[in-house]
Amino acid sequence: MLDLKKYGIEMWEDEKITSFRQKLLTWYDENKRDLPWRRSNNPYHIWISEIMLQQTRVDTVIPYYERFLDWFPTVKDLAIAPEERLLKAWEGLGYYSRVRNMQEAAQQIVAEFEGEFPHTYEGIFSLKGIGPYTAGAIASIAFGLPEPAVDGNVMRVLSRLFEVNLDIGIPANRKVFQTMMEMLIDPERPGDFNQALMDLGSDIEAPVNPRPEDSPVKEFSAAFLHGTMEKYPIKAPKKKPVPVYLYGLIIQDAQGRFLLEKNETSGLLAGFWHFPLIEVGEFPDDEQLSLFEIAENRVSFDLSPKESFEQDYDVVVDWQSIHFPQIQHVFSHRKWQIRLFYGRVVNVAKDPKKGQVLWLHPDNFSDYPFAKPQQKMWQTFQKATNKGNKK
Ligand code: ADE
Repeated sequence: MLDLKKYGIEMWEDEKITSFRQKLLTWYDENKRDLPWRRSNNPYHIWISEIMLQQTRVDTVIPYYERFLDWFPTVKDLAIAPEERLLKAWEGLGYYSRVRNMQEAAQQIVAEFEGEFPHTYEGIFSLKGIGPYTAGAIASIAFGLPEPAVDGNVMRVLSRLFEVNLDIGIPANRKVFQTMMEMLIDPERPGDFNQALMDLGSDIEAPVNPRPEDSPVKEFSAAFLHGTMEKYPIKAPKKKPVPVYLYGLIIQDAQGRFLLEKNETSGLLAGFWHFPLIEVGEFPDDEQLSLFEIAENRVSFDLSPKESFEQDYDVVVDWQSIHFPQIQHVFSHRKWQIRLFYGRVVNVAKDPKKGQVLWLHPDNFSDYPFAKPQQKMWQTFQKATNKGNKK
């Protein structure tokens, strides 16, 4: 085991650890949130909740969680779910590779574990997309194994309890918190112990506006006792997401249908249907310039974007001069800036060179997964034109 002293951390005596566990668990028993996944110890349910909770807040997760179990009640159902249904279940949560990994893991459970969720830490950890945090959460909550579940919340709580002078944003430092948790975790109630820290970290010990005086374990907290709460946790500011400039094309045919294409790359938003997007180096200052005057500057096109777009999709477009407000969508590493253009097709598409394209009436949009940026594009378009619902 790692020597915590080397990192400037003095672990408590056994007696103090016992008393900490008691205080924390008594508080948890009296104050724990009533959450749907806490009414279950089915590892499949716990797994889904944990992956969803890595994306967003508890309140947002609840309806997603319930629908997911309704659509895919067992590991086997998830293993055979069609891609579109899978992405639809995750629509709006972001980080879609997570749900794809979940499907791969479900297939792994069927193939390697005879459809039974593995019940050892190593077995759980061997599944696609499951790292030490998720493996620890499932092992402790579903199987009662004394495994820590160290995430940002737990690192923040521990940083304040022990005045840890390590940056919690640096992955290599995680092992220090893991060791602390191995010593602190209650071997009798490891799942509750982990969840008590999660509850503490998401409210009383929140990243902003914490209420340390309300903490059930405030007399254990070095930062609270020494008045250094402001200093902990140590965390360097994140790098800014890189801006990406895109033209979003809303193209409608005479029957009121809209052109969508399938993202067949393996990158960001793979598998989603989207309005065509053209990436450009940067937007010019003059917002009034038309799409194709601007995009003529694209270096990577042999043809002008207009010709190229019309050839790729086998359409001739009558571009409309409507000005739309610029759309922004921030991913963790990318910040998309989208300018919309609206055009009506003049001909009928016969032979698009693009992989999969689809002309879809808005009444049928709900059958397809739309990621957040496309939802924003559609809302912006509808607001400016009131066109979306008309034939
Ligand atoms: N955040 C991550 N996992 C959680 C859980 N099991 N309960 C509450 N919040 C969480």
